[in-house]
Order: sequence, then structure tokens, then C-alpha cells
Amino acid sequence: INPDSITIFDKSYPSDTWTNVPPQILSALPRKLHLQPSHPIGILRTIVESRFPSSTYARHNTLPAIVSTAQNFDSLGFPMDHPGRSKTDTYYVNEKTVLRTHTSAHQADMFREEEKPGFLISADVYRRDAIDRSHYPVFHQMEGARVWDRKAYASSEELVAAITEDINNIPPTTFSVTVEDPNPPHHAERNPLQPTHSAPEAEAVAAHLKRTLEGVVAEVFGRARQAKIEAGLLTPSTTEEPLKIRWIEAYFPFTSPSWELEVWWDGQWLELLGCGVVQHPVLSSASPSCESKLGWAFGLGLERIAMVLFGIPDIRLFWTRDARFLEQFGEGRVCWFNPYSKYPPCYKDVAFWLPQATEPAAGVSAAGGLGEMQNGQVFHENDLMEIVRGIGGDLVEDVQLIDEFTHPKTKKSSKCYRINYRSMDRSLTNEEVDNIQEKVRQALEKEMKVTLR
Ligand code: PHE
Repeated sequence: INPDSITIFDKSYPSDTWTNVPPQILSALPRKLHLQPSHPIGILRTIVESRFPSSTYARHNTLPAIVSTAQNFDSLGFPMDHPGRSKTDTYYVNEKTVLRTHTSAHQADMFREEEKPGFLISADVYRRDAIDRSHYPVFHQMEGARVWDRKAYASSEELVAAITEDINNIPPTTFSVTVEDPNPPHHAERNPLQPTHSAPEAEAVAAHLKRTLEGVVAEVFGRARQAKIEAGLLTPSTTEEPLKIRWIEAYFPFTSPSWELEVWWDGQWLELLGCGVVQHPVLSSASPSCESKLGWAFGLGLERIAMVLFGIPDIRLFWTRDARFLEQFGEGRVCWFNPYSKYPPCYKDVAFWLPQATEPAAGVSAAGGLGEMQNGQVFHENDLMEIVRGIGGDLVEDVQLIDEFTHPKTKKSSKCYRINYRSMDRSLTNEEVDNIQEKVRQALEKEMKVTLR
């Protein structure tokens, strides 16, 4: 093993001070859950795909996860100081190479390809994040986009008419939805129109986008309801009430105006996706022939939806190789998950003093970034999460900050985290957990320069 380089799929990348991808994360790269036809993530991917006619939308389900910072950030207009670029949030192979943090990393490339007027991508994406039942450092997204070329129309009015006409080509759904959309079509400060778009053009694009995504949600959650009824968890009469969804104003560097879509599910609003009218520079920098185009894009996370769709209580289950999980799902079918067993949890607390500013934390958190500054002390919670994950792996169910305080005299800060251990497949022994916890303590002391209490 050469410490000056990192090898991924037989390709070698020079490593540098930005490198922070642990081997455990790299081991997720070949899994391809979204391509497994009988895996919940694969099943959901196929349902979403069924809403996008392949005559109009090119499919891309095997784009490589290692991309340049140019693809993941620059091509999308991310400012240099955007938090997403920080190495506390993103896995860097090296300074110019990352594991994609979203499927939008491929937007410019797919616009340049111009295979069809639209595209649909499904892929694994990677983010350094907290550890709990609904966060995992690898998850799956689907990205969709659709553009129209001004050059094909004699006037802006004809273009608008054509986009509006295309709404009729969205496949009909069997399930109905009630849509709340109190937002103005654009808003000068909060959600501005782009200089290259007339109001009617942006409104036509937005209408096509919204009707398309409403169809996706109707299909997915209509099926989810059916599955719950079949499992005896809902009375059949509930299908007579339409599903409730709502549009919220949002912000993304690469779309304007932008929105998020939420669905009313299990008594609360569930955030499903982000979308908007593509920022013209994304298209014009993709290729000269995209200069005359306009359109929409969306990005949707699969795990959170699959959890409610199949009744999967913990995000780690998607990664298990346990047949008791995998055998419950069949190609193209939505069914309610039957937990084979819930093994007992075991929690351990770890408390420590943060390092003083005079002894900066080493390793991944060394360079300032967006750490929490407390009296000159820098601490990145995601670095702690990464250390815990590196040692405990999928045995860690969640990690919670349960106490923090700053000593009034010395101004030293202390934090206490509770690490909850639970295997999804078997019972853990106390000895085994103690062992892991001891390793975690030592690693925190060594790598984050904290003082254990
Ligand atoms: N990439 C965005 C995210 O991960 C979602 C998005 C995609 C928003 C496309 C707008 C357009 O949050």
C-alpha cells in the first residue's frame, strides 16, 4: 500500500491533505443497491422510472461515483465558501476529486450529451453526516431533467405553447392527489426569475416540472397506501381521501426559481425532493449548443421514501446481506417489511474536554473549515461520527450529544455523546461492545486531541 496514493477500482489517485475517504466507505462503491431488482431501493427506482417515458428521458444508472470538484460543485455554480465543499461534509479522494455528494454532479455532462430532451439518473451518493436511524454516509438519489430548445420555435409564444402542450404527454396516474401551492410563480428576492427567461417561459417550465413530480409522488405513495392496506395497517376507505402534497419555496445554487415537495404521511410533512428551473449558466457552460435551451431539474432521495414505503425502521437495513431481509422483497412489488427481530440495544457514553486552541485538532479536522468555535476551540461533530463509524461500523445505531457545558472559570468546554450499539442481525455481548467503546475512546483521544473525562 502506497500512502501517497489511493486505489479505487484499479485506478490510482494521488492523495493529499484533502484525502479523507475511509476504506469502509469505499467498500460501498460496488454494492449498487439501486440496480438490484428485488431490493427496496431498486424497486423504488423502477417505480419512479415508470413515470418517465424512455422516448423522452435517457436513462443513466451506472455513472461512476468518483467525480471532480468541477463536476460536483463548480459546474453548478456553488460559491467557493459553500459549506458543502468543506471536508467535514464531503468525502475527498484528493483536492480535486470527491465521491459525488449528489446526482446533480452529472447535470452538465448529461446536458452536453444531448441524447434526448430529458434524462433520468439513479446513483449512490456520499456525505459525511450524523449517525442515526435515517442517516447513512451512503444513500441513493435520482436526478431528472428536461429541456426545450428555443431554436426549434419561431417565437417565445410558440415555445411556451409547446412546453404547455407537453404537459399532456405526462403519463396519467391511477392515484389522485390534492396539491397545496400557495407560492407565487417567482419572487424578486426569495425566488427570482432568471434574466434569460420571460415570466411566461419560466411559468410554463415550472408547470411542466410540478405536474411531472406530482405524478411521481401520486404513483409512489398511492402504491405505499395499497401496501399498507394489504398489510392490514390502513382501512381500505382511506384510499378515498386523496393524498396531500405541498410545494415549498427553496434555494439551490443551480436552479431559480426553486422548490421542495412534501407529502403528508403518517401525520407529518415528509420532505421528498428539491427542484427548479435550471440556472442558464449550467446549460450554457455545458456546451455552446445548450446556450439556446431552458428547462427544469429535480433531485430526489430514495432511502427516506423507501423507509416509509416498505416500513423499514432503520436505514442500515438496506445494506444488510441477511437473507431474512432480502427475501421479503420481490421485483416490482411494494410490500410491508416484517421485522425478523429487534435485538437489544446497548449504550455507552463518552465525555471529553475539547482541545484548546493552542493544540489544534489533528487529521481531517485540522484546517479550520466550518467547525464549531468555542473559545478558540475547533470541533467538528462529523469527524467524531466518522471515527465512531470507522470502528463500530453498522453496529452503531445512533450517536447523540446528550450533554455539553463550558466551565465558567477555565472556559474549557466539555461534551458527552451517547453511542447506541445494536446489531440488526444478532445479539451483541457486553464484552464485545466494551471493546469497541474502548477503541472509540482511544481514537477520539488520539485523532481529535480531546481529553477524556
Ligand atoms: N442536488 C440537490 C440536493 O441534493 C437536489 C436538486 C437537484 C435540487 C436538482 C434542484 C435541482 O439537495
